[in-house]
Amino acid sequence: LYIVHIAAEMAPVAKVGGLGDVVTGLGKTLQKKGHLVEIILPKYDCMQYDGIHDLRALDVTVESYFDGKLFQNKIWVGTVEGLPVYFIEPHHPNKFFWRGQYYGEHDDFKRFSFFSRAALEFLLQAGKKPDIIHCHDWQTAFVAPLYWDLYAPKGLNSARICFTCHNFEYQGTASASELASCGLDAQELNRPDRMQDNTARDSVNPVKGAIVFSNIVTTVSPTYAQEVRTAEGGKGLHSTLNSHSRKFMGILNGIDTDAWNPATDNFLKVQYSANDMQGKAENKAAMRRNLGLSSADDQRPLVGCITRLVPQKGVHLIKHAIYRTLEMGGQFVLLGSSPVPHIQREFEGIANQFQNHEHIRLILKYDESLSYAIYAASDMFIIPSIFEPCGLTQMIAMRYGSVPIARKTGGLNDSVFDVNEETIPHQIRNGFTFTTPDEQGINGAVERAFNFYKNNKESWKQLVQKNMNIDFSWDSSASRYEELYAKSISRARAQAS
Ligand code: ADP
Ligand code: GLC
Repeated sequence: LYIVHIAAEMAPVAKVGGLGDVVTGLGKTLQKKGHLVEIILPKYDCMQYDGIHDLRALDVTVESYFDGKLFQNKIWVGTVEGLPVYFIEPHHPNKFFWRGQYYGEHDDFKRFSFFSRAALEFLLQAGKKPDIIHCHDWQTAFVAPLYWDLYAPKGLNSARICFTCHNFEYQGTASASELASCGLDAQELNRPDRMQDNTARDSVNPVKGAIVFSNIVTTVSPTYAQEVRTAEGGKGLHSTLNSHSRKFMGILNGIDTDAWNPATDNFLKVQYSANDMQGKAENKAAMRRNLGLSSADDQRPLVGCITRLVPQKGVHLIKHAIYRTLEMGGQFVLLGSSPVPHIQREFEGIANQFQNHEHIRLILKYDESLSYAIYAASDMFIIPSIFEPCGLTQMIAMRYGSVPIARKTGGLNDSVFDVNEETIPHQIRNGFTFTTPDEQGINGAVERAFNFYKNNKESWKQLVQKNMNIDFSWDSSASRYEELYAKSISRARAQAS
């Protein structure tokens, strides 16, 4: 098949969180399975340009409509992780992607509705005929209504549309009048069975629009797919998802096992594998030295946490876990940053409090190379999310031999299984889980993990080695996407004939 992903992120060149990892990981795996996969991204000024190979501008520019006018877009092409990527650079006076950051601008709705339309315009003008256009999250959700309302009638009509929602917290809702900028008919679409927000009637909701207008709708784990169909979990979209349930399902993400591999990882001090664990101890020693943590007792467990610091991730529980780890005789390293100023300030306060502490270090920034070192150095990894569509850090942690302590929600519930849970087969038990999102809940799991680590050295080692061998690759999940694509294409053919 010819599959085009239209997205706002792609690891490692334009990554904010897991969405970037998924676009690359799923794309690479589908490519390996023999499909033609292309990615379309905005050309952000703040990308990691050294990760893009053979970047060059195409000779032709693409003209796209916005706010009643036509704008030129320069199209760049390059290769990222072996995948062909088209980057769209609009010549628009607002310099949409020249802002020094990916998201969080006051005009994000305009920036990404412009991009969605320009991406389709590029496919049309370049004469491309994809079988599948796969868009992700609210930023490219506009693609679904734009495709059926404007582009299929113009002849870009070979494709089925797949929409993956990575997080229903972010829906991009805006005043209905804003929709007209990208050429959609705001009045037509601002209806309860189309894009009208389910709670604010004068607003349109891009994620709802993509659910209504796409042929395939997925989210990133089976448990989360169930949660969002309830009033508590659906962030206002449960009724929409229930009325479109026939085309909606949850597929657990994988991780890019080439990029996340302790046996080949160049960011690591020493590489290691499940059969040769000496390197893991050396990474732990190196991290303690580099961060100025005490090395006096090498049996002291090191707890890692790498996350965006937003309420979804259970920031109050992360805070609590830092203090509880200290009381339990462990060390804690947090790598995280927050788009929410008061949360960032709060953690800066804690970081200062522990500035020269021998067992705690908080590093409040985004730092890819340090993230690899922490996965490798840590013995345990904490993910106390309030909700978690999938979560990748628990899988990466296991691959690097760090045992997860996680709350049972969303994708964590589908990938972390408690070592003490009798109802779960022994061979898949891999971590420590808790249910109630409060201090007592997390204390119970942290204490069990520490006791296991201290009192059952041999079993802990076996657990770590078993976890490192779990198959978290994209292989089986990419096959699920292949099946959905194929079914949707054959349904369309059957309807046409
Ligand atoms: P989300 O997408 O909700 O942030 P995921 O668990 O799906 O959560 O993915 C997070 C990804 O971002 C992982 O690859 C993780 O290693 C990375 N990450 C998160 N915070 C940081 C940070 N401060 N520095 C480096 N990488 C980070
Ligand atoms: C979102 C979710 C996270 C998921 C990621 C990739 O950012 O918060 O749980 O793993 O997308 O799908």
